[in-house]
Amino acid sequence: MDTKYILNIIQNNSHKKGGLITVLEKIQEKYTYLPEKALRLVAKETGQSLTDIYGVATFYKAFSLKPRGKHYLCACLGTACHVRGAQTIVEEFKQQLNIMPGETTPDNEITFETVNCLGACALGPIVVSDKYYLAKVTVRKVKEIILNTKEGKYGSNETSNGHVFPIEAFCPQCNHSLMDNKHHLDGYPSILINFSTDGKRGWARLPSLYGYFTKIYENEILEDTIVSFFCPHCLSVLPDSSDCIECGAPFASMKINNGDGLFKICTRAGCKGHILELIGELL
Ligand code: FES
Repeated sequence: MDTKYILNIIQNNSHKKGGLITVLEKIQEKYTYLPEKALRLVAKETGQSLTDIYGVATFYKAFSLKPRGKHYLCACLGTACHVRGAQTIVEEFKQQLNIMPGETTPDNEITFETVNCLGACALGPIVVSDKYYLAKVTVRKVKEIILNTKEGKYGSNETSNGHVFPIEAFCPQCNHSLMDNKHHLDGYPSILINFSTDGKRGWARLPSLYGYFTKIYENEILEDTIVSFFCPHCLSVLPDSSDCIECGAPFASMKINNGDGLFKICTRAGCKGHILELIGELL
């Protein structure tokens, strides 16, 4: 174990609010999972109990306590995907990879998992290949998905086949476009909104490619802080009455594709919770 690397991450992040999650994320990035020795070191250095650290590591489904393969495939088995044939897709993955959900292929290439909802129900069945969302997956696409995942093709120019889908965001109050064509994130125009919290205010930028989720704030925001998001044109709060599926904080919502539905994002800094609620079909 690279003790120096872990001590460095702890030193740079653990004093920040919500820093434990960042520490665990960075450890997982390096090892593909959270090794027990690393968790013990985090407990020792931060003074937090090992039980609390395990509590966080097992609460978030993004963390794994078992080594993962080089690539990650995850099929949604939530109700909306299930009624569109997700179980048959899972069976096909099991057969083609020759492993059960939760296992890694013997060549260590792919870890396959199932999950209960990925927040894009209207576009199901959904499969995630590494960090890319694949919409409307069918049994016939499974072989190609495995191949592309091994070759890391999703997200590259080679595979721009509509699997990951860009959205266009509008203010639900004044209908003004929230897209900023001059500043791109992940190769697509960014969504630009305003935020405010505890006397701080500024802009926040989000990628418009669904399935990616990095919020960039003009000012540094402590993780776990709840912010309010505003339309930069009419200054109305981006309202929502529902709560984040990941952490329970309030969602903020934007209208997408001029009426197709809503794109909801979590108002807690550091949380990647987001969801699409569609009226029509996007793809
Ligand atoms: S049920 Fe599959 S994304 Fe929600």
